[in-house]
Amino acid sequence: HDERTFVMVKPDGVQRGLVGDIVSRFEERGLKLVAGKFMQIDRDLAEEHYGEHEDKPFFDGLVEFITSGPVFAMVWQGADATRQVRAMVGETDPAESAPGTIRGDYGLDLGRNVIHASDHEDEGSNEREIDLFFDDDELVDYDR
Ligand code: CMP
Repeated sequence: HDERTFVMVKPDGVQRGLVGDIVSRFEERGLKLVAGKFMQIDRDLAEEHYGEHEDKPFFDGLVEFITSGPVFAMVWQGADATRQVRAMVGETDPAESAPGTIRGDYGLDLGRNVIHASDHEDEGSNEREIDLFFDDDELVDYDR
């Protein structure tokens, strides 16, 4: 069944010029882009988005990093989109990510892992993250 999932190119991915490649990968896979926003995340949004990691030792660094420069936030739609996107993104740790995945192709640093995608094992995280980053009228309905 069709579902929507949240994806974001992180500041390191934007700085390295990887936005176009990442968008292409999802397009070529057959997913449909329904929203996209180039934006600067403020502290409040960062703390809310990463709220589940609040008590982790890496939380402050994570908030610092994600607010350090612009990100490209997107919503992609397709059959089983959340799980399919996660498979294309790779593991949280780029060093554990297979070549051919986005993280597996572009890095080795856990804190600079290029992209964020909703967790398919955390049910509802896709809808929650879409709501956090986008207004309803920013999601575009069209045939493809
Ligand atoms: P992301 O999928 O965006 O979700 C949480 C992020 O925390 C993760 O990607 C990593 O970039 C970042 N992170 C930094 N340090 C750690 C760590 N030790 N364990 C897990 N995630 C970490």
